[in-house]
Amino acid sequence: MPDTQWTDVGSVEELKKKSLREVSFGKTTIALTHKDGAFTAISGVCNHVGGPLGEGTLDGDYVVCPWHYWKFHHKTGQGEPGHEQDQVPAYATKVENGRLYIDLSSATKRKKQPHKPHSLARPVLRQAGPIRVVGISTTAMTMEHPRYSTSDAMLGVALEHASSALKLETQCIKLRELNFRP
Ligand code: FES
Repeated sequence: MPDTQWTDVGSVEELKKKSLREVSFGKTTIALTHKDGAFTAISGVCNHVGGPLGEGTLDGDYVVCPWHYWKFHHKTGQGEPGHEQDQVPAYATKVENGRLYIDLSSATKRKKQPHKPHSLARPVLRQAGPIRVVGISTTAMTMEHPRYSTSDAMLGVALEHASSALKLETQCIKLRELNFRP
C-alpha cells in the first residue's frame, strides 16, 4: 500500500455548500465537515452501533450521530468531553487546484470506551411471584376513528384465556391510547 492515498473527493466550490455530508470510497465512509473555511474528515461510522455520522448534524465542533446523538470532534474524531477515549478515525485532507483530497491511508485508530450496558440489555431473570402477562396492541388506528381489528380481538381472547383459565394477572396496553413525546 502506498504511504499516502490522496483521493479526489470533488470540487471545493461544490463541497463547501454543505457543512456536513457523507462521502464514500469503496468500503470507507467519511463524515466530511466544512467549517470555518476548512475541510475536516472523520469516519462516517459511529462507534456506538454504526450510525451514519455524515448524515448527522454539527453542534459546535462536534458531529452528532443522527441515531442516538453520540458526538465526535470534527477534526480529531474524539468523543465529547468526558468521552475522549471514544474516538472514530480522523483523516488528513488537502485542497489543491480547487479540488479536495482525503488521504485514506492516514486514518487514526478507532478507540472504544467501555460503556455500561443499556438498562434494557440486562439479563432477563424470573423473579419470585406470580406470572403476569402483558399484551401490547400495535394496531394502527386513531382514537377518533375506531374500527374493529381482528388482531386486537385475538389479543383480547388470549388475555382473557390467561386470566380466566390460567388465573394469571394480565394487562393490555394499546399504543394508540398512549401519548408519546417527540
Ligand atoms: S449509532 Fe451513533 S449514537 Fe448510536
